[in-house]
Amino acid sequence: MSVQPVPAGPRAAAGALEFPPGFVWGAATAAFQVEGSTTADGRTESIWDAFCRQPGRVVGGDTGEPGADHYLRMRSDVALMRELGLGAYRFSIAWPRVRPDGGGPNHRGIAFYDALVDELLDNGITPVATLYHWDLPQALEDAGGWTSRDTAARFAEYADTATAVLGDRVSMWTTLNEPWCSAFLGYGSGVHAPGRTDPAAALAAAHHLLLAHGLAVPVIRSNVPGAVAGITLNLFPVLPASPSAADADAARRVDALQNRLFLDPVLRGGYPPDLLSDVAHLGFAEHVRPGDAQVIAAPVDFVGVNFYRDHHVAAGGAGERAGGAWPGSEHLVFPPRGLPVTAAGWEIRAEGLRDLLVDLDRGYPGVTWYVTENGAAFDDRVEAGQVFDHDRRDYLEGHLRAAHAAIAAGVDLRGYFAWSLLDNFEWAEGYAKRFGIVHVDYATQARAVKLSGRWYAKVAAENRVPG
Ligand code: NOJ
Repeated sequence: MSVQPVPAGPRAAAGALEFPPGFVWGAATAAFQVEGSTTADGRTESIWDAFCRQPGRVVGGDTGEPGADHYLRMRSDVALMRELGLGAYRFSIAWPRVRPDGGGPNHRGIAFYDALVDELLDNGITPVATLYHWDLPQALEDAGGWTSRDTAARFAEYADTATAVLGDRVSMWTTLNEPWCSAFLGYGSGVHAPGRTDPAAALAAAHHLLLAHGLAVPVIRSNVPGAVAGITLNLFPVLPASPSAADADAARRVDALQNRLFLDPVLRGGYPPDLLSDVAHLGFAEHVRPGDAQVIAAPVDFVGVNFYRDHHVAAGGAGERAGGAWPGSEHLVFPPRGLPVTAAGWEIRAEGLRDLLVDLDRGYPGVTWYVTENGAAFDDRVEAGQVFDHDRRDYLEGHLRAAHAAIAAGVDLRGYFAWSLLDNFEWAEGYAKRFGIVHVDYATQARAVKLSGRWYAKVAAENRVPG
């Protein structure tokens, strides 16, 4: 989304903000990040298990063990969600548990999600399931992974197994979480599993991920009565660093690869022409077969937006490049603006969420949106078992005020999910970066609700951001 920059400004002036009745207040996690128990009940290896074993890939050599031990602590974690007054819980299902090695169904693996869903419903919490949050079975990667068209067909089979078992109780489904990351970090820059660095492969992966989404949507609809089916994307406001034509073009290319590559085929029925010409030399169009556009454009009931920050973009000079995550657009830089940053080094501009949502609504009218993730890593300090994370509370408040402003501007935004319920495995950053509203002591697995979590519980209970 190319939008005009808005100054960061001081923290929003106080004043209570009521959200619309029925607004969904939730929190999110993902299977590989929280579950641990990576060899239990027939689960086989995912690309992340294999990636973690390679020296130098993940900070501290961290792995999916112990995670937040959620596989074994699921019931007490659901009790915690209830204590926080969450209306909904967004979790992902591990493909290598449900169809190990991408093969036949494994009922012992799916039993965990069966029990989780029952536990949530017994506690009055709406389950929101994500089918793919990055844990591709390694056996499928060995056969080409997302660069292979066949993986999309395997995904539809997995979607069938998961929705056939859970569809009587789970109505809200997202197919993919942040396919940009799976494609461009997984196969382009190699920062994520499977760690490949081939721009053409990254683009092939993007198309096959979208195809997988499109094949899964009708499967969900056929197995789930009253299905609410969508996709979750990591979308960014894209701000050119200057009015120069070169910076404007750099911003256009980033917007194309980050946002429109995914939004346009799902919501408008085809890839953006400028993107197709930017990446023509990488053979992208060769992966697109007749009929794919119709498959990918299967109508969705909502789009989930994961929002963390803006992209502030300039055209790089000779030799300057942002890394392999931007195929066909190597000469890019992301200059810092001197704004406050999170512990991940991400600049904070809460108004970006409003700008993004308003822009999305203008560009893709009639779509229902959810913020399926928003949150921040900060260097939490535990003091006598407590975490007084005022920085995270302020981050959440700023972004909720921005979400409210988007609703006031007419955006059909139905809910917000904090990332994350629990501190967890932050991919290539390992356990060093904490995003939870609940602190996890990895040595004992003790949970402690942070100040931000208590604040968020009050917001959820009152359906308003207090003044
Ligand atoms: C988006 C991803 O979906 C999630 O897995 C990750 O932990 C957060 N962003 C924070 O980086």
